[in-house]
Amino acid sequence: MNTTEIKEIKTTPFKDQRPGTSGLRKKVEVFKKPHYLENFVQSIFDTLPKIKGSQLVLGGDGRYYNDVAIQTILKMACANGVAKVKVGQNGFLSTPATSCIIRKYGLYGGIILSASHNPGGPDGDFGIKYNIENGGPAPEKITEAIYKRSCEIDRYYIVDAPDIDLSKLGTTKLGNMEIEIIDPVKDYAELMQEIFDFNKISDLFRSGFTMCYDALHAITGPYARRIFVDMIGAPTYSVVNYNPLPDFDGGHPDPNLTYAKSLVDLMMSDNAPDFGAASDGDGDRNMILGRKVFVTPSDSLAILTANASLIPRYKNGLKGVARSMPTSRAVDLVAKDLGINCFETPTGWKFFGSLLDAELVTICGEESFGTGSDHVREKDGLWAVLFWLNLLAEKRSSVKEIVKEHWIKFGRNYYSRHDYEELDQDKANLLIESLKEKLSNLIGKEFSGLRVKHADEFSYEDPVDHFVTTGQGIRIFFEDDSRIVFRLSGTGTKGATLRVYLERYEKKLEALELDTQIALEKQINAAKEIAQIKEITGRDKPSVIT
Ligand code: G1P
Ligand code: ZN
Repeated sequence: MNTTEIKEIKTTPFKDQRPGTSGLRKKVEVFKKPHYLENFVQSIFDTLPKIKGSQLVLGGDGRYYNDVAIQTILKMACANGVAKVKVGQNGFLSTPATSCIIRKYGLYGGIILSASHNPGGPDGDFGIKYNIENGGPAPEKITEAIYKRSCEIDRYYIVDAPDIDLSKLGTTKLGNMEIEIIDPVKDYAELMQEIFDFNKISDLFRSGFTMCYDALHAITGPYARRIFVDMIGAPTYSVVNYNPLPDFDGGHPDPNLTYAKSLVDLMMSDNAPDFGAASDGDGDRNMILGRKVFVTPSDSLAILTANASLIPRYKNGLKGVARSMPTSRAVDLVAKDLGINCFETPTGWKFFGSLLDAELVTICGEESFGTGSDHVREKDGLWAVLFWLNLLAEKRSSVKEIVKEHWIKFGRNYYSRHDYEELDQDKANLLIESLKEKLSNLIGKEFSGLRVKHADEFSYEDPVDHFVTTGQGIRIFFEDDSRIVFRLSGTGTKGATLRVYLERYEKKLEALELDTQIALEKQINAAKEIAQIKEITGRDKPSVIT
């Protein structure tokens, strides 16, 4: 037997370890404070009833501090009696791949080290998230219990041992705990091959179809190279920026019109390939582009839902769909047409888990570049890209044609999100509080030519476990059925971010191809007026528009 000394280390609580929309996210410098990471990890272990003897998976998006945190967590897992940990080679695992591995091997759970789309590097962000045995993010009742524990914690356990070499595949031991260093791509790639028709996609590339997939120097690079180039046979130039770097080469690994600028510029140019896509830091987000067209995530969700029967895994139809509340209602129209249920949940993937587990929905998505299905319990960037490729291979028409066809059939939900980042926290709170106070007086009032029909604060009762989540965003509906939603981000690490979501439906054929910001002008002005954005925050325009 391999003996390793377990040390009990005294500690005191940090008061800021409440997980947000997606795990605990802080600046790297915060995570580097003595005991900070350890307190949170021990709080996770203390909260899980069956951690002793359990099997876990551990990995991250390769960002700065990933390698250090992994060693600490392995030593703590050993000291807490975990039987086995599967670790991605070099500490790498994308978020959807982690979910896939938990489900495939029936593991107790997983720890993901990532701050998703937030920048990395010594001055950037770090994060940690726990996923449960269904492969999905721990639901609120667990994250709240972890937080509660973190407020009381007075000791943690860790073994005294040298670091483990994570570069070689295979099995090793730390004390009594087994560590299996796994190929981060293999299981996930096999799952993708079961879902989609890789042969058809190969034929598409053989016919001269061109693609630019931008991994933004984040985790999906190795996955994209293996799947698109090695397995499907796409030319090597189809995947760019594929080396994961600890600081994402100084970039912001968020696939949207602002942060994936070079890809967007390429796709809008005369030299654009047929198809463009990108993913975020940890591989769960996706952005879809065609030649001179950007597909909004809300439209993408609706289009995938409408065409799902063309994909092998979904050929027998969908059980239902779900979208987060701020996501456009484009998918609702498709669900109605298909005769399936459409669920509206609060922001954050953790709310889809129970619906997927109860087999109430097959596909779900968020306006924030997140789409996924019941194949895992996370949103899945490369899955969405493969879905589009499979669709293009079946339809043999361009992205633009597919999008236009969709709008002609269902109408178009013009949609945009305006973010006001790094606001003073007190001012942001004041803005939301003032809106709440105003809610009941808004009905019947007119702003920028739009009359308010209904206004409320969104709360949600999970239809499966009946857990109620309140305070999930302010919604203002107008008489023409357009809508504005206001909420504060739960993932930021600096100040507060106000998100303003704008949506309006258009059915008239001649008005289907307007510029989005122009089409939403009234809603944009109404939002500024109702929330008094400039008066309260001092900002007269958003910092990011998607
Ligand atoms: C953001 C997105 C949300 C997504 C989350 C994690 O959260 O808005 O849809 O689930 O990131 O990727 P927020 O910062 O708005 O709380
Ligand atoms: Zn992410």
